[in-house]
Amino acid sequence: MRRLLIAGNWKMNGQAADLEFFDIIAQAAADVPHEVLICPPATLLARVSQTLSGSAVRSGGQDCHPETSGAHTGDIAAGMLRDAGADYVILGHSERRADHGEGDALVRAKAEAAIKAGLTPIICVGETRAEREAGQAVEIVVGQLKNSLPADCDASVVIAYEPVWAIGTGLTASLDDIADMHAAIRAALPHPEAMRILYGGSVKPANAEEILSLADVDGALVGGASLKAGDFKSIIHAVAEPVQ
Ligand code: PGA
Repeated sequence: MRRLLIAGNWKMNGQAADLEFFDIIAQAAADVPHEVLICPPATLLARVSQTLSGSAVRSGGQDCHPETSGAHTGDIAAGMLRDAGADYVILGHSERRADHGEGDALVRAKAEAAIKAGLTPIICVGETRAEREAGQAVEIVVGQLKNSLPADCDASVVIAYEPVWAIGTGLTASLDDIADMHAAIRAALPHPEAMRILYGGSVKPANAEEILSLADVDGALVGGASLKAGDFKSIIHAVAEPVQ
């Protein structure tokens, strides 16, 4: 059985004052059988991990460097995230692919570094609007997936399908398109039955239940709505049972 994972991606948002948020989220997570994760900016990770220790909520980073240490100004190694209390790390998010020119080979190297450091990678894939309109969405996403998966991919590695055009836009893919893409991703995974596939892209309280009820959707990667305690709590509570 795959345990549902509701993950909040705070992106470049959040300061110490936002830690008050966690009482509400820890309470919401205690009521449900699924896993809840917050990925704050790196500056807050250690404090968030401390605040959440003893609760059902886990913490994660938003990126890591493929090397373990060294002369890489401004970068953060996977082991450092682990040292700050992280259990997960988001990798290959489309904003990093676009803003920092990250390609699949780099994402794969980062995922391998994350696993070596004891972190669970959440590997993001997704097509642009032009790629979807050209009928290439499945081909593009499955290609990204195959090239981004670590060589030592075990069943704990998580995939997040995030159509680029749906991120932060208020647009979501249709339920049929999500179902089709998740089925295509599952068929391409090394451990298809066990690996979790999250959907991301404008997930909010109003659409969480229908998306999370789809058979191959094992959770959500939530950006904007994870910054509002009430909205994130509603998404955590949208389906009370694991999906399968
Ligand atoms: P969004 O972001 O929920 O704000 O669309 C999702 C993400 O980028 O992970």
